[in-house]
Amino acid sequence: MSKLFPHLFSPAKLGSRTLRNRIVFGAHTANMAENGVPTERHVAYYAERALGGAGMIVVEPMPVHQAAVLTRGNFRPDDDSVILHFQQVTRAIKDHGAIAIQQLYHVGAHGDSDNSFHAHWSPSGLPSYHDSDGSHAMSEGEIWETIDSFVQAARRCREAGFDGVEVWAAYLGLVDQFWTPWTNRREDQWGGSLDNRTRISREILTRIRETCGLDFIIGLSVSDEPDYAVALSRQELAEIIRLHDEQGLIDYVTCGTGSYLDFYKIMPTFLYPEKLGTDLATTLKAAVKKALVVAESHIRTPENAETVLGEKAADLVSIVRGQIADPHLARKAAADRPEDVRGCISCNQMCWGRRSRDYWISCLINPSAGREFEWGGDRFTSAAIKKRVLVVGGGPAGLETARVAAERGHDVVLAEASSRLGGNFLLAGLQPRRGQILDLLGWYERQLSKTECRRTTEHLRRGLGNRLFPS
Ligand SMILES: Cc1cc2nc3c(=O)[nH]c(=O)nc-3n(C[C@H](O)[C@H](O)[C@H](O)COP(=O)(O)O)c2cc1C
Ligand code: SF4
Repeated sequence: MSKLFPHLFSPAKLGSRTLRNRIVFGAHTANMAENGVPTERHVAYYAERALGGAGMIVVEPMPVHQAAVLTRGNFRPDDDSVILHFQQVTRAIKDHGAIAIQQLYHVGAHGDSDNSFHAHWSPSGLPSYHDSDGSHAMSEGEIWETIDSFVQAARRCREAGFDGVEVWAAYLGLVDQFWTPWTNRREDQWGGSLDNRTRISREILTRIRETCGLDFIIGLSVSDEPDYAVALSRQELAEIIRLHDEQGLIDYVTCGTGSYLDFYKIMPTFLYPEKLGTDLATTLKAAVKKALVVAESHIRTPENAETVLGEKAADLVSIVRGQIADPHLARKAAADRPEDVRGCISCNQMCWGRRSRDYWISCLINPSAGREFEWGGDRFTSAAIKKRVLVVGGGPAGLETARVAAERGHDVVLAEASSRLGGNFLLAGLQPRRGQILDLLGWYERQLSKTECRRTTEHLRRGLGNRLFPS
């Protein structure tokens, strides 16, 4: 039992399952599919986070319909052939003790026809305000086709071994477009009153329950966008979630931040405050009687997560980039070793940065992210032959090389000309709001001091001459 994080490491009952702790690895488009199916890159990526202790993993979203396809790395929608491939993903997650959920999404007006080769569908045919492509107002038939595509996608998830699904109603995607009066100007049974605007989500969730059974977990993800008057307010969202909760349609609700109107708030950089999704979570926690509430967005560290739970702002916490950067965050925190967690520096450079350019994601400070299947993750086996390794330069690349070599048992000398490690990262870390970079350098210092890696400036002086490094 963790002394430092008692709330975080208390089990949680979610629907028919029990989570071993309250840390969720929330949904994100890792963009790792090839030909529309998950690959060994994908399987090993999630296996590493399950092995690292996460209680629940929400696997990258499945676009439920061809109209919802957004990226080159998206999964193949509308096709039972994916089931066999996803069985490998669910097995890897569940074998390591985590609950496996898949997010189901439809972006509505924000689709990318360069990848979907399909028209975009939305409640009232409005532009995206994010992408340049337009959309048309859905016909009655297209609405029912979409509802059925959510249900069929959920059925595939069940057959693939997932414990449940998370229906995406966040960020002004299709479901949110129906909920929001500004984007839903319909005058039929799908627009106008609250009952009408929520009909689509209630139909989707009711039919998923009927098809997949009462023991299948159903989550809903929503987001907070207080800076835009046209978006739903927290109270309006609370009313919608209360309705779904009262009707027993959801087991949990995840609270993210931002939307397609303000994309950067979805994965907040160092410019934004931490624990950003907590305010919405607090509001929704007061609205629900049955569903668990998950706080998400810039929670980043086990310390933040424990605070959110300790304040009773949420029942679970989602840490996405924090577990991309350190897949073993949960395991280290459970052992009361938070100082060993490599903290995400909120830079978005290799996770969102690569996703936005339509590559599979990685991490600026964890080069093994996305390469777990080749490198065995952020874990080390002893080298068969111990070698003497000289690493020249204690910048970020030198520090990581020295760490990995030392962890593998090599005899490492790290030669750095200056008296402080970090190279250009030291300079970068001195900028306003970039203290997380200095924390990272502190982490390297701690990790190296646990190994037999020796530091010197002497090798450089002797090897390269005093010319370069006059004393
Ligand atoms: C590369 C990347 C892709 C993402 N894709 C999705 C997505 O497909 N669906 C979703 O609901 N959220 C997505 N998100 C948002 C995350 O779920 C999460 O809300 C966000 O990263 C903030 O949480 P964090 O600070 O713990 O990373 C994505 C985030 C990242 C970094
Ligand atoms: S690339 Fe940057 S923001 Fe993304 S997970 Fe890594 S450290 Fe965090």
